[in-house]
Amino acid sequence: MSNIQSLRGMKDILNQESERFTYFIENASRIAKNYGYSYIETPILEETALFKRSVGESSDIVNKEMYQFIDKGDNDVCLRPEGTAGVVRSFVQNKFDRAGGVYKFYYYGSMFRYERPQKGRLRQFHQFGCESFGETSIYEDVNIICMIKDIFDFFGIKFKLLLNSLGCDECMPSYKTNLVEHLNHLRDDLCEDCNRRIQTNPIRVLDCKNETCKTLLVDAPKITHNLCSNCDTNFEALKAILTANNIAFEIDTNLVRGLDYYTQTAFEFVSDEIGAQSAIAGGGRYDKLVEFLGGRATPAVGFAIGIERVWELIKIKESKKEYYYFGALNEEALPTLFSLALKKRKEEKCYVEYAPRGFNKHFKIAEKLNATVMILMGENELQTQTITLKNLQTKEEKTILIKEF
Ligand code: HAM
Repeated sequence: MSNIQSLRGMKDILNQESERFTYFIENASRIAKNYGYSYIETPILEETALFKRSVGESSDIVNKEMYQFIDKGDNDVCLRPEGTAGVVRSFVQNKFDRAGGVYKFYYYGSMFRYERPQKGRLRQFHQFGCESFGETSIYEDVNIICMIKDIFDFFGIKFKLLLNSLGCDECMPSYKTNLVEHLNHLRDDLCEDCNRRIQTNPIRVLDCKNETCKTLLVDAPKITHNLCSNCDTNFEALKAILTANNIAFEIDTNLVRGLDYYTQTAFEFVSDEIGAQSAIAGGGRYDKLVEFLGGRATPAVGFAIGIERVWELIKIKESKKEYYYFGALNEEALPTLFSLALKKRKEEKCYVEYAPRGFNKHFKIAEKLNATVMILMGENELQTQTITLKNLQTKEEKTILIKEF
């Protein structure tokens, strides 16, 4: 019988990756808190209807990629493919929409999409996301973009910011009519997917990856040329505030996002260092979603970063903290060493090797662990009530009395 393996597209996070993963979560959370966001955790399993209604029936996520099943109580449920819908459900369920005011949440966790796995594309992956409710000001859109920039800058991740406006209920319908009229002339040459989308969700045609379609679509009407005056004013303000704050961006009028809930601002951060799956973060404004899910109309804007897409790019900054390795040279030294490590661990990271060993063996283990200071104890040290601290980088040694440690 062969051993059981993890499912395709689902990975264990361990070794170096787990170090980068926790480093990412810790520091991205710290930055989000600085921006006034507080942690929210919503269930991984939700009613399927939540995602159908929010992400959209015509989206690839809902159409092809959901981990959907009927549970033992006959409920139609689904592993969350993204984080926004659950946060909005919670926002409405907890009546924040009725209380009014501004609410800001950050979250991280597993998302599930039944996609074809490849580099940077998993079936279970992790997002770090933020959702801000109650702000109509375009400054909040800029604020969100600045936070993502701060996060990527902290980790030394280079990116390009792509920007578009997806209009609103006033300008989008007439734009879609223009677009469909234009696309109808191209039907015979566009791919099968595009032909289907002309009917279900025409703006998704703009983001077809097929090279022939891309060429055919060069002259398609652009949403940014068809915005109503309110959307146009906001889009111009967004660009102006970003420019005033030295944040570079590119306008990409084909950036339509794969989820249906966006209004006005839509953006993606892309990296050219990670291969075909280049989107490292995506987001935008979704002013209609709270109402759509049964709440009081509440403006909202948010984003999510794909953690697996960026962790290869993360440069871990050396912490100034020490990592102590405690090793006993004989059985008798262990109780004292153990107590010393317990005391030290209140401030610093410590590892205690329980088995008594010789110097060389301890040294090897300490090096493998990347410890910075090694403390060994044997008969001599016990007698003199001293310990010797060896700095494993500089190789310097100093001996001190145990009571001074
Ligand atoms: P999204 O663009 O679908 O947006 O996903 C955000 C990020 O998750 C992507 O840019 C990518 O880095 C990562 N990602 C997506 N699918 C996969 C996958 N199969 N494997 C690995 N990484 C993946 C959202 O999910 C929205 N909820 C973002 C948002 C929040 N908009 C407003 N608020």
